[in-house]
Amino acid sequence: MAILRITKHGEPVLKKPSASVVYEALRPELPRLLKDMWATMYAAKGVGLAAPQIGLNLRLSVVDVRPEGKAQRLVLINPEIVSREGVMAEEEGCLSVPGVFARVKRCARVRLRALDARGEPFEMEAAGLLAKAFQHEVDHLDGKLFIDRLPFTEKLRVLSLIKDLRRDWT
Ligand code: NI
Repeated sequence: MAILRITKHGEPVLKKPSASVVYEALRPELPRLLKDMWATMYAAKGVGLAAPQIGLNLRLSVVDVRPEGKAQRLVLINPEIVSREGVMAEEEGCLSVPGVFARVKRCARVRLRALDARGEPFEMEAAGLLAKAFQHEVDHLDGKLFIDRLPFTEKLRVLSLIKDLRRDWT
């Protein structure tokens, strides 16, 4: 198990749309990769981590929003949002943009389809924090960060803040 460096805003790997996972091809690497992703996510106190955030352009994310304070580990391989409803605008942050938080417009409820860690397809309905996490993670796999969803003036504010914060990023 290793705690990996998390890539930061400005690094090309975060901008590039990730390739679909061929489950059988990834399978030998997957247990170790997932262990490292969980360790990295929990060490950084995040609720989600996408493969591009550890430098891999693969459609793979892990999510644990800890409903009622208990772990609920979800592995999302090739995730897709298959339906969406309603609107919410809640504060968001990202381990790849540390120190930056902003309200992002998202769908209030979504249905996600993905493969789990064993390669089995599943679908899951989500609202609130989990719905936000699902949309945030799929964005990562499409090469998008939450700040890319902000209105223009808000994005300018955030970009100038990032200029200052970047000096302390590792
Ligand atoms: Ni993120």
